[in-house]
Amino acid sequence: MDLKKIKQIYDSPDYNNSIIIGGWVRAFRANRFIELNDGSTIKNIQCVILDSTIEEGIIKRISVGCSLKVKGKLVESQGKGQSFEIRVEEIEILGESDSENYPIQPKKHSFEFLRDQAHLRIRTSTFSSVMRIRSNLAFGIHKFFNDNNFNYIHTPIITSNDAEGAGEMFRVTTIDQNEIQSKEVDYSKDFFGKKTSLTVSGQLEAETYALGLGNVYTFGPTFRAENSNTSRHASEFWMIEPEMAFYDLNDNMDLAESFLKYLLQYILDSCLDDLNFLDERLVKEDSQKPKNERSDLNLIEKIKFTINNKFVRVSYSEAFEILRNSNYNKKKKFNFKIEEWGSDFQSEHERFLVEKHFKSPVIIYDYPSKIKAFYMRLNDDKKTVRAMDVLFPGIGEIIGGSQREERLDVLKKRMNEMDIDEKDLWWYLDLRKYGTVPHSGFGLGFERIVMFCTGMQNIRDVIPYPRTPKNASF
Ligand code: 4AD
Ligand code: MG
Repeated sequence: MDLKKIKQIYDSPDYNNSIIIGGWVRAFRANRFIELNDGSTIKNIQCVILDSTIEEGIIKRISVGCSLKVKGKLVESQGKGQSFEIRVEEIEILGESDSENYPIQPKKHSFEFLRDQAHLRIRTSTFSSVMRIRSNLAFGIHKFFNDNNFNYIHTPIITSNDAEGAGEMFRVTTIDQNEIQSKEVDYSKDFFGKKTSLTVSGQLEAETYALGLGNVYTFGPTFRAENSNTSRHASEFWMIEPEMAFYDLNDNMDLAESFLKYLLQYILDSCLDDLNFLDERLVKEDSQKPKNERSDLNLIEKIKFTINNKFVRVSYSEAFEILRNSNYNKKKKFNFKIEEWGSDFQSEHERFLVEKHFKSPVIIYDYPSKIKAFYMRLNDDKKTVRAMDVLFPGIGEIIGGSQREERLDVLKKRMNEMDIDEKDLWWYLDLRKYGTVPHSGFGLGFERIVMFCTGMQNIRDVIPYPRTPKNASF
């Protein structure tokens, strides 16, 4: 089928020539005006049926949700609301739609409702915009790294190591269920001859490649069996993990900041129609909220603000003091009071710093070692590690990373303290025996950057088929 995409028509309208398009009917009015969308752009195209060009029988079968192939001439529109339209010459109905039962009616649906219709929600304006932005972001990520001489590597999805040491892994096994329930499972008899799981991060393997290729990145699915049913956590999500040899923590923070800014600019340049649509949607939604809950900046302004302002960088200890001395803390407005140095910040604290105190993206670095993973480089104070988290307004943590511990003795000591078996990570320790170098990296949660760019509030609405506790439909 030699079809024109609706986007191509908008990009360079070719008047008075016959063209063929294919798409799904978004609306059908007065037996005459078809709003057709083919997913290539947020914009529909209006197809007008003039009297007696098309058989009654065919017109009767056109309804919302059906798929059509339309041949016609592109002409200047007589009506308002569009500058051109297609004057229909031929229509072929490819697939009728039971329009009465079609879940996606031309009206507002709640996101909760649409999650149950995840196979059809892509035919709404909102979801098609979100998913086009998601796709463009993925491309922008590869472009950024490719332009900056990074090598793209594929780290394993099935693994025998717990990179984050948090024990939140999904087991992969072919052992019989009944046997698993008994206490002594012999994993040497399992498919891989050892206990294996779905990966929580490709970082450890990425480190091995950085110490040979220089700068590398992974971009793949990661899996976490943490039982956190929040609007920002998914059990299956995508993560981008660059890893750079000869980078210290400052280099790492610089890269994270310029990477995020590049992606935001990339989306402004490539997805403006979708951003405008989502922006308007959010403005409408916002106007229904009480005044004090409305946002200061709209979506596009927020993206531009983030590109144009330097991220604030503070150490954990500085952030801790700010939080501890804040009126919020003193007046007990936090659910978790900030009292003792060393405890992890909750998302309410992160939001306070980003949204109330600094009013800017913030990078917090040098966290207490006790609350961070084993691979982070220990500072001379022996209490903090060279960790960094990038926090965004409305999102919280978008990036987590660190400079890695490159000293064999220090790393071994840390692993010991955290009960991580050296035998399992012998290859990781080898890196520190043979030509170790300072190196750093971070992980960007892909869905979180999609949330930021689209203004969507729930991670379930920025990934096609979300997996969350008690939910793996479709
Ligand atoms: O902070 P995390 O756990 O860091 C790592 O996994 C490191 N190995 C990364 C590295 O240094 N190479 O996760 C990184 C990011 C978080 O900042 C967050 O954006 C996202 O991944 N993330 C999640 N996104 C969705 N659902 C979840 N359950 C997530 N857990 C983490
Ligand atoms: Mg983290």
